[in-house]
Amino acid sequence: MTEVIEALANRRSNRGFLPRPVEREKVDALIEAFRWAPSATNKQPWRLLVCDSREGHAAFDAALSESNRMWAPRAPLKLVVIGNPAEQDQDFGQQRWLLDCGLALGQLLIQACGMGLHVRSMAGFDEVRALQGFAIPDPYRVAAFVACGYPGPVEDLPEAVQAKEKRPRTRKVPSEIVHWNRFGGGLS
Ligand SMILES: Cc1cc2nc3c(=O)[nH]c(=O)nc-3n(C[C@H](O)[C@H](O)[C@H](O)COP(=O)(O)O)c2cc1C
Repeated sequence: MTEVIEALANRRSNRGFLPRPVEREKVDALIEAFRWAPSATNKQPWRLLVCDSREGHAAFDAALSESNRMWAPRAPLKLVVIGNPAEQDQDFGQQRWLLDCGLALGQLLIQACGMGLHVRSMAGFDEVRALQGFAIPDPYRVAAFVACGYPGPVEDLPEAVQAKEKRPRTRKVPSEIVHWNRFGGGLS
């Protein structure tokens, strides 16, 4: 149990990558971690797009937000998490496909860190450009962009990105986020 918590606590989303390609067996392990995620009624509304061609990388980079374009294009492996809202029930107006995609992405992140890879998820992308650039049909939606690769020196990153990279990782403490028995309830 301690090992799992340690792995989760030590995982971090770095932005520095070496140009070294990620081996195919490691890409396959990421796909395995992704596809074994739980999902509501096991609908598995997720898809994973792997960019390993010049065109794939170009479509990815073109859809990045300005701030992500400062570092993410260097990643040798780029992934796009795609979801199909029509494959998942939306009871009570909940976007469960997105929750399922998030769980699958979370598993992929942990597997990547366990294999010594740097990996960082992104919500900073232009979805319309991504849908067009990757020829993703209706009703699929783009849930997240992911940059992945072997750790590279922070000094290779633009200064503004280096500063962000050196920030300590922080988390809210349990008393800020955990409620017992009713919202606002503390430990009895
Ligand atoms: C859904 C999601 C969207 C994110 N979007 C971005 C992003 O667009 N750009 C970025 O640099 N980091 C992004 N991140 C990374 C977070 O900023 C990072 O996970 C957070 O600061 C905690 O750091 P840690 O993962 O190292 O613990 C995103 C993370 C998640 C889960």
